[in-house]
Amino acid sequence: MLFKKTSHLVGLDIGSGALKASEIVETKSGHCLQHFGMLDIAHGAIEEGVIKDADEIAASIRKLFNENSFKTQNVAISIGGYSVIVKKISVQTMTEEQFQGVINSEAEQYIPFDISEVNLDYQILGETENNPNQMDVLLVAAKKEVVDSYVNLIQMAGLNPCVIDIDTFALQNIFELNYAPEDENIALIDIGAGKTSLNILKGNSSLFMRDVTLGCGMINREIVSLINCSYEEAEQLKYGDQPDKISHDDLKEIISSVVDDWCNEIRRALDFFYSAYPDDQIKRIILSGGGAYIKEFRELLAIETSSEVEIINPFKNIQIDKKSFDISYLERIAPQAAISMGLSIRKIDDK
Ligand SMILES: Nc1ncnc2c1ncn2[C@@H]1O[C@H](COP(=O)(O)OP(=O)(O)OP(=O)(O)O)[C@@H](O)[C@H]1O
Ligand SMILES: [Mg+2]
Repeated sequence: MLFKKTSHLVGLDIGSGALKASEIVETKSGHCLQHFGMLDIAHGAIEEGVIKDADEIAASIRKLFNENSFKTQNVAISIGGYSVIVKKISVQTMTEEQFQGVINSEAEQYIPFDISEVNLDYQILGETENNPNQMDVLLVAAKKEVVDSYVNLIQMAGLNPCVIDIDTFALQNIFELNYAPEDENIALIDIGAGKTSLNILKGNSSLFMRDVTLGCGMINREIVSLINCSYEEAEQLKYGDQPDKISHDDLKEIISSVVDDWCNEIRRALDFFYSAYPDDQIKRIILSGGGAYIKEFRELLAIETSSEVEIINPFKNIQIDKKSFDISYLERIAPQAAISMGLSIRKIDDK
């Protein structure tokens, strides 16, 4: 074996804007954060979930691991909405063995990708509500080509890919660990640099998932087209501390129009959810990803959806040694850390 077998993993979230990595060990007294690191990656190195510049990202991953003292090279990574379909289906009740025999033909009906080009996975959820002859199954189909390219990337960085998860599941896992959800409806919404994913939960079950190509990069692109600068310069200017280059009014207008788009799209998704679940009310929205930092967004979303909107704290139930970590830094970057934290609680022998 190439690597020493330790049961825990480093959760590595490969975002199109930034890499985030967390290492948690489970002790008798609970989950304990050992290391956390974050590093921006070059714009364009990942586009719509596709790796465009593997050398560049592998070098960034190596740098992130060199700068932090992660204790294992075994990592859990995730892929996002562009190349994954997650679908809850109902089929006639059968054994797991029988389901394995029919999974391809079932999947063909629901998955808009060529079945020979995807990795299929599933979880049998149990009896369908009000129909004892049927069972619910969560079907996951991920494009093989994309999964393989992420596995290659991790190997290029000298690491050992042990678990390939889905962004949304990782987020749900860290949410459940920290918030012990009750039977209310909660929407988890992650707004990254290039994509937004929404997951509506009732207790520990996911009722509805949707990914859309909206993200914080839209603000950069608006700045680029207004003042004709590079995407990287726009990244510096979007925080409003260089009014000589872009005025506060112009920036405010850009941010307002972008967050307006986000809220409209989220409203559309929620309306779709309500049409399928008319008796369910979403009273709480929990945000993660870089978009969660934007106050105008949180305020508008609360008004538009009549929900309480808050920022996720993935460190809430995690023990953190105050001598080893800058707590105020962790509090600040909490929404961006969420997915990597969810990945780091996966175990080496998880499927
Ligand atoms: N304080 C802030 N205000 C507004 N935007 C911010 C702030 N801090 C970071 N961002 C933006 O957040 C984005 C990065 O967020 P995040 O790390 O969640 O994205 P990612 O995971 O890399 O992207 P994706 O998941 O879409 O591939 C960047 O576009 C960055 O400009
Ligand atoms: Mg992300």
